[in-house]
Amino acid sequence: MKSIKIISVVGARPNFMKMAPIHNAFIQLEIRNKSKYIGPSIRHLICHTGQHYDKRMSDIFFNDLNLPKPDYYLGVGSGSHAEQTAKIMIEFEKVLLAEKPDLVLVYGDVNSTIACSLVASKIGIKIAHVEAGLRSFDPSMPEEINRILTDHLSDFLFVSEQSGLKNLNKEGISKEKIFFVGNTMIDSLVSYFPKSKKSNILNTFNIHNDQFILVTLHRPSNVDDKNNLKKIIDLLNQLAELRKIIFPVHPRTKANIKIHSHKLHPNLIMTEPIGYIDFLTLMKNAELVFTDSGGIQEETTYLKVPCITLRDNTERPSTVTVGTNLLVGRDLLAAKKSILRILKGKIKKGEIPDLWDGKASKRIVKILMENFSKH
Ligand code: UD1
Repeated sequence: MKSIKIISVVGARPNFMKMAPIHNAFIQLEIRNKSKYIGPSIRHLICHTGQHYDKRMSDIFFNDLNLPKPDYYLGVGSGSHAEQTAKIMIEFEKVLLAEKPDLVLVYGDVNSTIACSLVASKIGIKIAHVEAGLRSFDPSMPEEINRILTDHLSDFLFVSEQSGLKNLNKEGISKEKIFFVGNTMIDSLVSYFPKSKKSNILNTFNIHNDQFILVTLHRPSNVDDKNNLKKIIDLLNQLAELRKIIFPVHPRTKANIKIHSHKLHPNLIMTEPIGYIDFLTLMKNAELVFTDSGGIQEETTYLKVPCITLRDNTERPSTVTVGTNLLVGRDLLAAKKSILRILKGKIKKGEIPDLWDGKASKRIVKILMENFSKH
């Protein structure tokens, strides 16, 4: 019987929930294959580069998502972009030479994504990119470079929203490689959401009845400049007069905040990064979310929770044109005005973008299997 070996590469926090439903879809396929032959046998291996390594940035997600221990852990850790990318490449090449997989699956736009795509392409192993085609058109974002290069190296481009199709078309990527499948991050949300009923996080922070604002900020453009970060904290202190604020602080942000040098309003709760299930619970119950994350713009759109995004652009435009997201630039005054409008009940109603239906991973696995069955 023909057998196919696939390696998924994950490294940073947002990769884990994009990969989990694909891993589960492969397992389901293998279970069905055992009872009745429906196609080649699949071996799906997980390689964690170790780009994110703290328990609260990594292990907690593997637990919450019921993922097995990775088959490979490269332990590369932090560093400059060049250092981190190079370390991942050196270690991942060893994995590919030992395993000789048929396909490498990469996710999103982090340094692990481009590093492993480059290695696979030079060895001549096929690459599938989950979340292809997104573009912020802002070359100063490291993620934008990662996205463009990964897409141009990939053999299968799995697109999560309409804008991706247009972008890839414009860049001249062959249509046969492009598949509009929907959003695997939303697959995770749909399938793990029932677990959030057991979360105790609202009690932990003593927050109920949608009377709180959830904040996450980690983009270098917002948090690397300490003066700018101070202005953000000042704004949060003002908003804390009106509502409780829950702010799980990313390590990059933490490194730049001297928490003790800021006088924090008692309603402004800065906490460690929070696990997947608890975070879903917080998002679902928040009155609004104030963020610069990519994934959270999508999750709030699906949950129809208002989202204010502190960025000049978004690579996920459907969250703005279709969903509940509002881009305010990096203008804190504009952010404050928009937040106050929402607190007064003036809420943008959103819809859910096409194919964000919890079935993207099944579509991806089906396409891959059809393709491998042919060869
Ligand atoms: C990375 C991704 C970004 C993604 C974000 C999600 C790139 C270029 N950026 O940014 O797209 O939105 O992850 O979180 O890949 N650190 C820890 N513990 C950890 C991980 C990091 O303390 O487990 C610290 C390190 O000091 C490190 C800093 O956080 O220097 C930033 O980590 P890094 O992986 O370089 O980038 P992120 O800002 O997390």
